[in-house]
Amino acid sequence: MDVVYIPMKIAVLTIFPEIFDGFISTSLMGKAVQDGLLDIQLVDIRNYTADKHFKVDDVPYGGGAGMVMTPQPVEAAIKAATEASGGGYVIHLTPQGELLTQKTLREFATMDKPLILLNGRYEGIDERIRELYVHREISIGDYVLNGGEVASMVLMEGVCRLLPNFMGNNESISDESHTAGLLEYPHYTRPAEFNGLKVPEILLSGHHENIRKWRRKMSLLRTRERRPDLFEQFSLTDEDRKLLKGLE
Ligand code: ADE
Repeated sequence: MDVVYIPMKIAVLTIFPEIFDGFISTSLMGKAVQDGLLDIQLVDIRNYTADKHFKVDDVPYGGGAGMVMTPQPVEAAIKAATEASGGGYVIHLTPQGELLTQKTLREFATMDKPLILLNGRYEGIDERIRELYVHREISIGDYVLNGGEVASMVLMEGVCRLLPNFMGNNESISDESHTAGLLEYPHYTRPAEFNGLKVPEILLSGHHENIRKWRRKMSLLRTRERRPDLFEQFSLTDEDRKLLKGLE
C-alpha cells in the first residue's frame, strides 16, 4: 500500500510566480512535491490588485528613487492564502530580517501552521503590511537582491530537506544532530588518485572507527580554521578535545 503523507503547506506570494516553476518541479524538491511531503501554492499578488491597470506599485511618500509595493493587493493575497490553507505564519523575506540559520529552518520545518512566504520587489512593501500581517522577517545574508524570491527558494529548500520522510530522512537527521554547528569533513570518491593527488590512506583502510575519528577531527579543524565564530559556540566533547590535541 502506498503511504500517504500530510504535506507541509507553503504559499508563496510574489509578482513573479514563474521564477519558481523549475525550482519546485526539479530534483529533490520536485520529488518532495510529487510524494506529497510539500504542498506549494504560488500566489500571484498581481491577481489581487483592485487597480484597473493591474498596478501593484506606486511612488514613495516623501519622494526618492524607486517604487513601493502598494498594501491593497498584498493584503488581499495574504488573506486569500490564509483562508485557503486555514491560517498561516507570514514570513517576509527582506535584507532587514533576522539572519536565516539551520536552527530557524528546523523551527519552520516543524511548524504546525502553513508558511506564507511574502516576497517584495522594488524598494519594498508598504510598512503597514509588516505591522499588520508579518510574523517574522528573514534575511538570507548581508547583501541585497532584487526581491525576496531567491531567498524564498533558499528557505524552502532548507526546510524541505528537514521534513520527515524526505529522502529516507529519519536517520540522516539524527546523524546531522551531533555534527550540527560543525562544517563537514572533506569527501572523496573514485579514482584513488587524481592529478597526482591521493585520497587519504585512512579512508581506504576499511577501519570504520578510525575513519569516524578522522572525519570528526577534520570537521573540528575545518570549523576552527574557517569559521571561528561557529567553533567558539560549539560544545566540544572529551573525545573532540583529544582529537584536537592529537591524542586520539
Ligand atoms: N530581498 C532582497 N535581499 C534579500 C536578502 N538578502 N534576504 C532576504 N530577502 C531579500
